[in-house]
Amino acid sequence: MKITTIILAAGKGTRMRSELPKVLHKIAGKPLLKHVYDMCSELQNNRIKIIYGHGAEQVLEVLKDLDADWIEQKQQLGTGHAVQQVKDQINPADIVLILYGDVPLLKLGTVKHLIAEVSDKSLALLTVNLENPRGYGRIVRNDHGAVTRIVEEKDASESEVLIREVNTGIMAVQGGHLIKWLDRLNNHNAQGEYYLTDIIEMAVADHVHIATSQPKTIDEVLGVNNRSQLGHLERVHQLEQAQQLMERGVTLYDPVRFDLRGTIEHLGLDIEIDVNVILEGQISIGNNVRIGANCRIVDSVIEDNAEILDHSLIEKAVVGQGSRIGPFARLRPETVIARNVHIGNFVEIKKSSVADGSKINHLSYIGDCTVGSRVNVGAGTITCNYDGVNKFHTVIGDGAFIGSDTQLIAPVTIGQNATIGAGSTITKDSPENQLTLSRAKQVSINGWQRPSKREK
Ligand code: UD1
Ligand code: CA
Repeated sequence: MKITTIILAAGKGTRMRSELPKVLHKIAGKPLLKHVYDMCSELQNNRIKIIYGHGAEQVLEVLKDLDADWIEQKQQLGTGHAVQQVKDQINPADIVLILYGDVPLLKLGTVKHLIAEVSDKSLALLTVNLENPRGYGRIVRNDHGAVTRIVEEKDASESEVLIREVNTGIMAVQGGHLIKWLDRLNNHNAQGEYYLTDIIEMAVADHVHIATSQPKTIDEVLGVNNRSQLGHLERVHQLEQAQQLMERGVTLYDPVRFDLRGTIEHLGLDIEIDVNVILEGQISIGNNVRIGANCRIVDSVIEDNAEILDHSLIEKAVVGQGSRIGPFARLRPETVIARNVHIGNFVEIKKSSVADGSKINHLSYIGDCTVGSRVNVGAGTITCNYDGVNKFHTVIGDGAFIGSDTQLIAPVTIGQNATIGAGSTITKDSPENQLTLSRAKQVSINGWQRPSKREK
């Protein structure tokens, strides 16, 4: 059995009030259309075809790498017209699955159930009962409860408008039937559109049964038409992800104040995450990691027993076992922190490695630097790595002690176990084991008096 999935994604999305095509708006950092694609690409023997149109160039630019066929619908003349664009590519023996590119939370299980219902004699339709069915196509059933057709709201009679069972737009149908019915569509209706929903009546006339099923939750089939709906589905999705993490053994201090915008590749046990933490991109977190409140971690690896304290930002970095970062620390891309390192408040580290047991505890900037093991970097130390044009490297040897308020003018090397006196500006390599300092001699002026205000 082969499947052709057609994702309808050509619509305009006027109510988003946006320059961005609707299907490129994001949930959990991922375009709506990519959510739909990722879900259905889990199906076996499936070829995905995407009908695109509005904002064609932008959509292609962002998503051209998807393994799918792209078919442009130049004018959006209705859902039936959209599917007609791929008619020639449909194999009559295939099952055709119709999805919407702006319905991002549909579950694979729901789709599989739908596909299982399709045959030569049966079309599978996903419906849902809504308190307020406004705007949706209504499912019309006969006295025996069998579906006879779908009527769009604008074409519905007074009694049909009262029907609460609505069409989600998602359906699965045998290819041969679909091809035949697509040929018969017309636009003689209130909106002058080619309605895909008209195939239901044709199916019934051809003695094909309409098998309806319903999703587990209404949120699964909600589309995004405005930013309020986008916001709602973002929260629904985030809560689902939070739930999954808790099932995998993570403690979330507050599941509604947690955001994952990406994927967790490795997840250890007994991780604790305080409120307002955002995890982005590809993340790995080891056992017993604790992440404090208000941290953002992007494309990074946090190893076992590490602790990220409140208000820290970590981007494309590695934090080794047992290390402690923050509060208020910033690790920028290409930073590799080894084991049992302490990086404290208001410390920024960029493109540097810090070896085991070193401490950079307060108010420092370390960039383009190789920091050895057991190094102590005093408060307010700065690697002066940039001359306005070029970047230069600093090396700090194992066991070195850098006094507070030191500037290391790169390129420069501090030898192993060297000590740098506080307040130094180091421009030349400093030898191992010695004390190096550059400091103006301290003087005291005898008999000096503070200026005082003159009396009038
Ligand atoms: C459609 C259904 C309606 C159903 C509703 C569910 C028809 C005629 N009506 O309504 O029964 O209750 O979905 O949301 O099918 N699209 C295209 N090209 C077009 C038109 C639409 O690609 O020419 C895409 C849109 O981008 C969207 C999807 O198809 O992803 C549905 O279009 P939309 O206009 O939202 O649905 P309606 O026609 O209002
Ligand atoms: Ca609509």
